[in-house]
Amino acid sequence: GKSLLEPMDFTTEEMEELFLLADRIIEEPEQYAKSCEGKLLATLFYEPSTRTRFSFEAAMLRLGGKVIGFSEPNSSSVSKGESISDTIRTVACYADLAVMRHPKEGAPKVAAACTDMPVVNAGDGGHQHPTQTLTDLLTIRREKGGFENLTIGLCGDLKFGRTVHSLIKALSRYRNISFVMISPEELRIPEYVRREILIKNNIPFQEVKNMQEVLPSLDVLYMTRVQRERFFNEDDYLRLKNRYILDAQKMKLAKENMMVLHPLPRVNEISAEVDNDPRALYFKQAKYGMFVRMALIMSLLGVEERRN
Ligand code: CP
Repeated sequence: GKSLLEPMDFTTEEMEELFLLADRIIEEPEQYAKSCEGKLLATLFYEPSTRTRFSFEAAMLRLGGKVIGFSEPNSSSVSKGESISDTIRTVACYADLAVMRHPKEGAPKVAAACTDMPVVNAGDGGHQHPTQTLTDLLTIRREKGGFENLTIGLCGDLKFGRTVHSLIKALSRYRNISFVMISPEELRIPEYVRREILIKNNIPFQEVKNMQEVLPSLDVLYMTRVQRERFFNEDDYLRLKNRYILDAQKMKLAKENMMVLHPLPRVNEISAEVDNDPRALYFKQAKYGMFVRMALIMSLLGVEERRN
């Protein structure tokens, strides 16, 4: 079966199909309550998660399917030293689809190569997080009507933030997109993203350290958490963690219709006072995450869209 390991695994047309299905699910969720009856989803989370795991599980349950899995790998035979390949081959004996989060870059790809069961990358180290990108894109599409002619600001930990890497990759396929990267020197986007995606595709981008100076130009501001768990040195984390804090004062500089997105969890980078601003869309984004995952599950399982 088809897996989703990185954002480019779906063409823009396939993504559009997913978004249209997600729109229909949002409109009439009860029509899909039996779509995955008899199907089983396995969630294999080798790293902590709230949104990705819960939204996948909620998505499958709302489609009438069932869920098995672990969120604490030490409660499974992983703790006895079982390999990813043996784990996934075993899970494939029981489940129809697996969702895997892992601290090692490429782990879900290794898993997918060992089985015919579709495998979804739910975040691999500091590398990619394609279903977060589907969530982000669905949110932008529903709020802005599309992806073209947008100036997207990406702020915070652009080095280790896998959601940013996947989002840049996916958005690079649309017309007249430009990026403004806002980060400290130490947390700039990785070289492979700069060269292989931005420069190679002639995508306009600038890299700045100051948020205020670019805020007025942005259509979307994508805030990110400084990824403590990827730091080699705690002192570096402590030095960088509060570099950017979006507050009500800074929001005054932004366009009236600028969208504030954040994959969440946030630590300190968006003040709670921004939550009531109509431009703050991060909880709506988290909700859309469940609907786009419902569409994804149906697509990967090849479920016919038969309305109840
Ligand atoms: N956005 C996201 O991946 O959140 P979780 O780590 O809680 O799954």
